[in-house]
Amino acid sequence: MNTNIKSELLKRMSAGIEQPVSGQQLADEYGLSRTAIWKYVKELEQEGYEIGTVRKKGYYLIDSPDSLMPAAVQQYLQSQNYGQKIEYIEACPSTQLVAHVEAQNGAPDGMVIIANEQTAGKGRLSRPWSSAAGKGIWMSVITRPKLTPQQAPQMTLVAAVAIVRAIEDLTNLTPTIKWPNDILVKGRKLTGILTELQADPDRVKAIILGIGMNVNQELEDFPEEIRDIATSLYIEQGQSVKRAELTAKVLNHLETYVSLYVEKGFAPIKLLWESYADSIGKRVKISTLQDSYEATARGISEDGRLEVVLDDGTVRGIYSADIHI
Ligand code: BTN
Repeated sequence: MNTNIKSELLKRMSAGIEQPVSGQQLADEYGLSRTAIWKYVKELEQEGYEIGTVRKKGYYLIDSPDSLMPAAVQQYLQSQNYGQKIEYIEACPSTQLVAHVEAQNGAPDGMVIIANEQTAGKGRLSRPWSSAAGKGIWMSVITRPKLTPQQAPQMTLVAAVAIVRAIEDLTNLTPTIKWPNDILVKGRKLTGILTELQADPDRVKAIILGIGMNVNQELEDFPEEIRDIATSLYIEQGQSVKRAELTAKVLNHLETYVSLYVEKGFAPIKLLWESYADSIGKRVKISTLQDSYEATARGISEDGRLEVVLDDGTVRGIYSADIHI
């Protein structure tokens, strides 16, 4: 199935009844028959799209389902690579596992694995990640930036900036970033990022960015134990969001910011990241496996560590910890 034609159809049909898209014109452009275009229209209808026709003029979109199928996402893409190849899976244990195999088998830069449901979603520090069917965005983006393994952890911060930007594009919310990888709204977790690496000692082969975004859940959709710490866009703004459009916005921004990072280094990303960070200048509690202490967060370092000032004035850079404000 050619998702390019379906995404092109969706894009053009979205202008509505005023500007229907002509089957003949599309057939000519793609060197296909009008019947072939009509078959794509029927397939879209089977996927839940409501499509109207204006006699002798063509097709237009009446309503679309909240689908994450490739064509649904790709109609909103402005990227060169990111999202141009999408593997959509209705349900799987974790998109990270699929992405690792795909990356080993030579998946191109920017290939995305999307699941409508994960049955064993993975969070940081081996925690589970609740991934209910049809409610959120559960995806793994395979990236192949020219970076050293030491530069890889900053990709989490790059991804966080891209995600915040995408949320700002589609809502009136003002998300904040909690170091290193949580995106919060009013202190509750909306999104998590899990960054995993395939590398030689001196060279990154692939960085797999696992992104989990809570989009259309109601509170009861979350397991009871996380109801007081988790949230979704729907809960925060009382309105659902089309997951396909949000997915594409994340991928568009991600490609832009990853290129910025590779070309200009971490400094511009650091500035953006700090402008969204909720902890800078604040007193924080830092918990690691070894100990737990309080300090004042100062910013992030060039290599993505959180810099905190201890009460005796010493500055410490933190690689991995849980932070509480
Ligand atoms: C965290 O905050 O702990 C990170 C959560 C990452 C969840 C995403 S959902 C898509 C991808 N597949 C997984 O199993 N995990 C990541």
